[in-house]
Amino acid sequence: MTATKGLEGIVATQSAISSIIDDTLTYVGYDIDDLADNASFEEVVYLLWHQRLPKADELAELKQQLADNMSVPQPVLDHFKNYPISEVHPMAALRTAISLLGLYDENAEDMSDEANYEKAIKLQAKVATIVTAFSRIRKGLEPVAPKKEFGYAANFLYMLTGEVPEEVAIEAFDKALVLHADHELNASTFTARVCVATLSDMYSGITAAIGALKGPLHGGANEQVMKMLMEIGDEENVESYIKEKLANRERIMGFGHRVYRKGDPRAKHLRKMSKKLTALRGEEKWYNMSEKIEAIVTGEKNIPPNVDFYSASVYHSLDIDHDLFTPIFAVSRISGWAAHILEQYANNRLIRPRAEYTGPNMQKYVPINER
Ligand code: SDX
Repeated sequence: MTATKGLEGIVATQSAISSIIDDTLTYVGYDIDDLADNASFEEVVYLLWHQRLPKADELAELKQQLADNMSVPQPVLDHFKNYPISEVHPMAALRTAISLLGLYDENAEDMSDEANYEKAIKLQAKVATIVTAFSRIRKGLEPVAPKKEFGYAANFLYMLTGEVPEEVAIEAFDKALVLHADHELNASTFTARVCVATLSDMYSGITAAIGALKGPLHGGANEQVMKMLMEIGDEENVESYIKEKLANRERIMGFGHRVYRKGDPRAKHLRKMSKKLTALRGEEKWYNMSEKIEAIVTGEKNIPPNVDFYSASVYHSLDIDHDLFTPIFAVSRISGWAAHILEQYANNRLIRPRAEYTGPNMQKYVPINER
């Protein structure tokens, strides 16, 4: 038995939800470019959960279900005040809040198809409220209730700021949610599937996935990209900063991917959004710096940007706190995690790989006074 480090190239399961073949990403066979240009996030949620695009009445019903389930039990929001909220990372707060949420769902342990689908709706709806309420409570502000008439993306931005968002911001945020919704067997999705393959509940699976997404090699990269841009400060510092990092063989956050070789198809949509939004804000430098970094890293290392690179300047241009970038990744990816959890339940087998043992063999016990 020989281990494959990082399970690189190992095909661990079959799935009909999303695929990455020859650097093309599809959700249920629809190319991400097609969906990014045409579909709303709610349509993509329906697609991932039902394996087909919704009809008008089905989409309206999903939107209503999400709107009806956005409120969060008060004790979950009150919990934010039980710990030093300004000192904890929002992903740790989100991980805890989702776990706590399960304690207030009387159907948390009900493993019927209906109950599990309902939990997917509740988690997708409530995660937006949890992230935005956390953001406001840590600033000493009261949470803002969603507006029934708003779509998911508009409601997230409205609950975050308390102001009706501009159309251009809603459109950009909705597209970002579409682009982050699912991605085959990435680390956090695999974590969710391993967890629920023991027939554990959906709250446990999503909590586990949030823990995996938190890391800087995965979802945490977008926040690190913005940190890097802030450290560089201006366009004229880009070259020396990046070349020094590369000379020290350091990772440039937002670049590289375990699966993509020629490039992450999502990056071009986010690059376009970054160019537009940074110009609208009169802060083109963030886009210009990003473009320069991309030119150097792809030129020197032939490593293209991934989904996290340009999403940083997009979210910054939407006035979103930098440490909320990864929670926003989770807000979108809950749709994909839930789809994979439902798929795992529908055709389950415990996920239990082997390890190549490299420790000592055949050791005899020695009494403690002889050690
Ligand atoms: C996401 O899996 C998914 O689908 C994830 C995701 C999704 O939607 O769910 O796409 C979201 O997580 C995107 C990735 C976000 N992470 C980052 O941007 C962090 C920086 N990237 C790297 O850490 C890295 O590229 C990974 C973690 C993304 C992939 O790592 P691998 O496949 O384990 O590749 P590796 O570490 O073996 O690197 C191969 C070579 C190495 O060179 P050598 O040491 O062999 O000479 O490429 C180099 C690495 O040094 N390299 C980089 C680099 N990424 C790889 N060098 C500089 N900067 C980088 N970012």
